Amino acid sequence: MRKKVIAGNWKMNKTPSETKALIEELIPLVKNTDDTVIVCPTAACLAAATETANGTNIKVGAQNMFYEESGAFTGEISADMLLDLGVEYVILGHSERRQYFAETDETVNLKVLKAFEKGLLPIICVGESLEQREQGITNDLVRMQTKIALKGVSSENAKKAIIAYEPIWAIGTGKTATTEQAQEVCKAIRDCVCEIYGKDVADVITIQYGGSVKAANSKELFEAGDIDGGLVGGASLKAADFEGIVNYK
Ligand code: PGA
Repeated sequence: MRKKVIAGNWKMNKTPSETKALIEELIPLVKNTDDTVIVCPTAACLAAATETANGTNIKVGAQNMFYEESGAFTGEISADMLLDLGVEYVILGHSERRQYFAETDETVNLKVLKAFEKGLLPIICVGESLEQREQGITNDLVRMQTKIALKGVSSENAKKAIIAYEPIWAIGTGKTATTEQAQEVCKAIRDCVCEIYGKDVADVITIQYGGSVKAANSKELFEAGDIDGGLVGGASLKAADFEGIVNYK
């Protein structure tokens, strides 16, 4: 049985003091889950997050990272900086970064390789726009995004990767994919991983769904065979909402 992984993507919300307050509120609410709980605040709040979450079952992830080791890359954050802060996960290739910050499949791949080289676990986001869905190219597109993101990644590392299927039309819109739609694409991603690495990797890799996940739909989504948890945006910003998703059982 794969463990569920439920991650909150806070995006550009919460100050360091609000980060501390939200994590303090979450600690007693999520402490009894057997699943993996991750919060991903913005870079400026990572120190507050790791300090507050230290010694609890809440893990901390970043929302981005650069693929170079160090140097003249103004504004960027390296893997070593994240590790030094106690960060364990990093979201890579979120559609907002692809849309607003020129992230490409190729840069996502470089970042995935760097994350694994350093021992950070990537949450790799893939997903189609409404136009692409209507054209009928969803599965082709997410397969391509998955293959390029994992290019050069060893089987051992691929087993530890998290892929988040996030249809762009469902992000922040309140319009969740149906469980059937989410399951179909998560299965297509798992089949693609199976083609690349074989069944032993496909059986253990974590594939999340993201896009307007809330307490009311999390149980049905997470109980679908190929959906191993969720990447949650809006509903991760309030302890009561996120707790309802984490404790979906
Ligand atoms: P949402 O965001 O839950 O607010 O739709 C999900 C995401 O972008 O990761």
